[in-house]
Amino acid sequence: MNNEAAQMLRATGRRPRIAVLLGSGWAPLAQRVADPLRLPYASLPGFPQTGIAGHAGELLLGRIGAHEVAVLCGRRHAYEGGDVAAMKGAIDALAAAGVQTLVQTNAAGSLDETMRPGELMMVADHLNLVQHSPLVGERGAARFVDLRDAYDPALRTQAREAARRAGITLHEGVYAWVLGPQFETPAEIRMLQRLGAQAVGMSTVPETILARHAGLRVLAFSLFTNMGCGLQAEALSHAHTLAVAGDSAPLAVALLEAVITALPA
Ligand code: HPA
Repeated sequence: MNNEAAQMLRATGRRPRIAVLLGSGWAPLAQRVADPLRLPYASLPGFPQTGIAGHAGELLLGRIGAHEVAVLCGRRHAYEGGDVAAMKGAIDALAAAGVQTLVQTNAAGSLDETMRPGELMMVADHLNLVQHSPLVGERGAARFVDLRDAYDPALRTQAREAARRAGITLHEGVYAWVLGPQFETPAEIRMLQRLGAQAVGMSTVPETILARHAGLRVLAFSLFTNMGCGLQAEALSHAHTLAVAGDSAPLAVALLEAVITALPA
């Protein structure tokens, strides 16, 4: 629970039912939010400090289509200081303020030759390879969260349909969470392929666990910025991630708008 921030959110008079967490490359969605109220994370108790290029650290309350939304511009990653529960205060506050669905986004490396840089994947399931939990220290039976349907099957069906109607190719696969911030070795990429993952990235999984713990339904989308290390000739860098993500942002934003518009009220 994060009641102090939840009360501040409620006091705005806005009533978002959907929260959207914008990762690397997805930030331009923020410009599509109608009638935005901007709240810096620093003004909201329990919200994280963010320090990564391309991650603003601001909560927007506004509308996308007919939906009231809360858009989290930026996350704090576990590799920024080692706190895997860095987003707990924000997610708990949004849940307490009435949010029911969390739509997550990230940049990822592709482990599958058929999923190319610049393309999009909906997360069907994940591998928590960090083997740490943001729920360590929680009490009570609620901490034993069932993750069978972590990425909500009914919402995924709706998202798949929305992408098809919008003419956007949307892959589907397993996202493997690694701590980072270093990229993987070629041997690690081969391992991840054998483990059955299609995407690798440094985020999303802890927030999914936190969101399920808070009772939220979850959707997550990856924008492939590169093939996994060793699968392409080009060297990997954060600048490269942001450059490819920037080029693909219009497609990513179109997907999110189509998906969010199609979500139930
Ligand atoms: N590995 C891990 N995280 C990433 C990658 C990658 O190749 N690309 C974008 N985020």
